[in-house]
Amino acid sequence: MIEFCSVTKQFPGGTLVVEDFSLVIPSRKTTVLVGSSGSGKTTLLRMINRMVDPTSGRIEIDGEDTALLEPVALRRRIGYVMQNSGLLPHLTVINNVATVPVLNRVPKKQARQDALLLLDTVGLDRSLADRYPSQLSGGQQQRVGVARGLAADPNILLMDEPFGAVDPIVRAELQTELLRLQTELDKTVVFVTHDIDEAFLLGDQVVILEKGGRIAQVGSPTEILSAPATDFVATFIGADRGKRELSIRSSPSGDILVDADGRAAGVLIDSAGGPAL
Ligand SMILES: Nc1ncnc2c1ncn2[C@@H]1O[C@H](COP(=O)(O)OP(=O)(O)OP(=O)(O)O)[C@@H](O)[C@H]1O
Ligand SMILES: [Mg+2]
Repeated sequence: MIEFCSVTKQFPGGTLVVEDFSLVIPSRKTTVLVGSSGSGKTTLLRMINRMVDPTSGRIEIDGEDTALLEPVALRRRIGYVMQNSGLLPHLTVINNVATVPVLNRVPKKQARQDALLLLDTVGLDRSLADRYPSQLSGGQQQRVGVARGLAADPNILLMDEPFGAVDPIVRAELQTELLRLQTELDKTVVFVTHDIDEAFLLGDQVVILEKGGRIAQVGSPTEILSAPATDFVATFIGADRGKRELSIRSSPSGDILVDADGRAAGVLIDSAGGPAL
């Protein structure tokens, strides 16, 4: 479990980026921080692995105050997938993935072997292992970024808009891949995005942020969708525009779901894949 206890962050120059932020992030679940640009998401994420230190307040991991832990050692046991993949351009794919294990003194040959397995895990062909990041597509780079984050086999994986820079189809593919990985790997994932649909798809717990890292609402996707806490949340999730409201309408071929604008949204099926209506 990761716990933020009244955390405040003020950068030199006075900007108060995060103010009195408290949150419990449960283990082995995915928590998604979602908010618009500048709401403090990256700052919150980086305070977990001490790339940024809070001005006041405390962050605990499994009851241990991170301020008392050695930052470099802490960073090596927490996976971090950076905004825009963060790959090292002068290293090949395999060496990008193996960097942290080698720093952690895993023998090079072993680290390389493990890295190849990780390429399989994230769905990358091994033939790409000796390429440089610039020789990969955006989606492939993002996958290498995820493999790199998993390389030290961390219990905690921090992901900062990892699928931001790819087209919607690749993005959907990567999201599905992450859902699959999460059932397999069972990590504590803290995922940052500004896309509310992505947050609802991936999050066990969703945290909606306003400016200054103020929490507008915390809950499961169902809880937030069924009862937005404030007008801000309702607007943010699109509920006020009726975007989330689906109703059933009869058509000659059977019942279909329509959205608030009357556009066909799809059909309702039961868990066995058959029509539910
Ligand atoms: N090192 C820094 N020094 C001063 N101000 C900073 C620093 N890092 C971030 N900020 C400011 O803190 C605020 C929050 O930044 P942060 O990067 O956490 O936002 P974000 O929610 O991740 O935004 P985005 O969605 O654009 O990535 C911004 O106003 C930013 O300008
Ligand atoms: Mg950011």
